[in-house]
Amino acid sequence: MDAVPIPDAYPPDRKRKKKAVTTSFLKTQPAPRFSFHDLGPDSGSFLEDVIRGLARGRKELPPKYFYDERGCALFDAICELPEYYPTRTEIGMMQARAAEMARHLGPGCVLIEYGSGSGRKTRLLLEKLRPIAYVPVDIACTQLRDSAGRVAREFPDLAVIAVCADYSRPLALPGLEGIAARRRVVYFPGSTIGNFTPGEAVRFLGNARALTGEGGGLLIGVDLKKDPSRLHAAYNDAQGVTAEFNLNLLTRINRELGANFDLSAFRHQAFYNAELGRIEMHLSCVRGQRVDIAGNRFDFRAGDTVHTENSYKYTVAEFQEVGRSAGFVPLECWTDPDLLFSVHYMTVSN
Ligand code: AVJ
Repeated sequence: MDAVPIPDAYPPDRKRKKKAVTTSFLKTQPAPRFSFHDLGPDSGSFLEDVIRGLARGRKELPPKYFYDERGCALFDAICELPEYYPTRTEIGMMQARAAEMARHLGPGCVLIEYGSGSGRKTRLLLEKLRPIAYVPVDIACTQLRDSAGRVAREFPDLAVIAVCADYSRPLALPGLEGIAARRRVVYFPGSTIGNFTPGEAVRFLGNARALTGEGGGLLIGVDLKKDPSRLHAAYNDAQGVTAEFNLNLLTRINRELGANFDLSAFRHQAFYNAELGRIEMHLSCVRGQRVDIAGNRFDFRAGDTVHTENSYKYTVAEFQEVGRSAGFVPLECWTDPDLLFSVHYMTVSN
């Protein structure tokens, strides 16, 4: 491997508008190996997506917009709920298996993480893997800045290149020039892949494969199919945190897009659609109302629902097939003893 030294910092890209890209460095810390790149998403695409989704015959809103500051906090609270098994199961798997996983990925990696969240699983992997660079990519800029900064302080030898971006769209990662990696690996924990339909997942993973290139890898957490009552409980918690998380999307639209949703007219609804192998979350309207969003009018009748999220569940074999369709070769799959959750390692096929 030709090792090219990693520059300590990357100059801001002056060709682009300041609004599109601002690169700043953590000035309070001597560790110079942290950079932050803001690639949107802008409020214009939020408005467009909301209007497009609500104009459909079956109203829908993209789940990526759940994650404003309150949404991130509510999601962190979901992860602690007794009914919500995926997070603690996957963390347990990382505690038990991260060393083994790291051996598969090998030394000299650049680890690109989608949807970095609070970073507990990441830490467990980083400790064992010791990659040359860590590139967390997340749509929630504030949380990303905090969590990536924390990782940078905890791993002072690690180059941390945080990228705030909507990774559901094709993406060219900044800050990777001059980093000579033996292999690029995409780490996508948390079963967030379940937000995509299987067809979308194949396309998404195809983009990830292109990003990692030849010899690249994919380490991905995927929630398993299981007893529907267990799934139902996980998305209908007794404390109502998931309901609050779902409804917060309307609060966010009211605040950021100047809409006038009457929140008291909507109820959280989540159920397992066995035919499609997915949990569906909806906001169900119990009272008719007319909603204005930036000059657009939407009529809601009692009984209408807004489909806010899918969370697909896969058997190991089903997900391996998704990986193959995207150009990966499944090499290893770990599961917990109760068969609740899976972590797959796949490499790019040549
Ligand atoms: C972050 C997409 C994996 O689908 O379980 C949790 C989001 N929604 N409770 C999931 C979520 C409701 C979560 N993912």
